[in-house]
Amino acid sequence: MSKNILILPGDGIGPEIVAEAVKVIECLQAEFGLDVMMEHADVGGGAYDAHGHPLPDTTLGLARAADAILLGAVGGPQWEGLDIAVRPERALLGLRSELALFSNLRPAVLFDQLAGASSLRPEIVAGLDMMIVRELTGGIYFGQPRGVRTLEHGERQGFNTLVYKESEIERIARSAFVIAQKRAHKLCSVDKANVLESTELWRQCVSDLASDYPDVELSHMYVDNAAMQLVRAPKQFDVMVTTNMFGDILSDIAAMLTGSIGMLPSASLDAEAKGMYEPIHGSAPDIAGQGVANPLATILSVAMMLRYTLSEPALAERIDVAVGKVLDQGLRTPDIYSQDGTRVGTVAMGDAVVLALRT
Ligand code: IPM
Ligand code: MG
Repeated sequence: MSKNILILPGDGIGPEIVAEAVKVIECLQAEFGLDVMMEHADVGGGAYDAHGHPLPDTTLGLARAADAILLGAVGGPQWEGLDIAVRPERALLGLRSELALFSNLRPAVLFDQLAGASSLRPEIVAGLDMMIVRELTGGIYFGQPRGVRTLEHGERQGFNTLVYKESEIERIARSAFVIAQKRAHKLCSVDKANVLESTELWRQCVSDLASDYPDVELSHMYVDNAAMQLVRAPKQFDVMVTTNMFGDILSDIAAMLTGSIGMLPSASLDAEAKGMYEPIHGSAPDIAGQGVANPLATILSVAMMLRYTLSEPALAERIDVAVGKVLDQGLRTPDIYSQDGTRVGTVAMGDAVVLALRT
């Protein structure tokens, strides 16, 4: 039976980059026997404008019914003044929690062709290939109570709660151990166990599971040190597992090591490997509509979808190879452009990937 993919282009550059990823999916359907159906829906600021909510019920319903979701990006300056409950970002958080997408995989892979684009010296980053596994439905992002209250003397106080249950820690840790088993068998768990009780428990729970994965070498690191190590010697890491907020921050650092955040895909998975796939970068409103956004992170997100949800690893590999080919050809969107490349726009880059897939 064919699988259902829900396409959520979203805001800013979202529609432009998703259109290129859809071309890639259509090519796989037409020429490589991929059996999927695609449906489109509104999400983010555009959905708020059209329906009064960034995650309309119809979109959520389609997302629940879909086997996989491809999302572009949400947000933009025109929605920044909205109440936090209806800001475009709430759509992302809503999809994550409503669909229980607790395991967020954020690879940081440096394509050899782009070593010069990193802000670190090539010898420090060349060959970098790590995976950050970020807990995505718990921690301080969702903990209750939260809000802004007025104290007795009239001063306001903002508060959020960092909570983790053992079961939440265990499921994300197991997901990371299994990924480490398929890679270099090294897992680093990142916490702030020296200060925060919730992450002291995190460290204990992760340690308790280690005996179930004797082939994985487990280490622990405090988050401040991890941030430093990521820019000092990033290649020491294979798989890193961490909390929702630490993962948010560390994955941006890791992304920048690769030269362009425009190259990095991500997957957010539930317990059955149903997933939402999206580029790590945001909606980039400053370049929206100009046809210059890099579609490769979204296209590589399709590769992750093929690998993790659709069980089509050979097709995923084809996409990875095709992306490698267009980089070898020297094609560069402005974000990854350097002197020796050929500057291309969003559509030309997408077309080149489709052509490379076919040949
Ligand atoms: C991310 C983003 C989101 C997050 C925002 C847009 C809600 O930064 O996916 O990393 O903080 O999780
Ligand atoms: Mg982030």
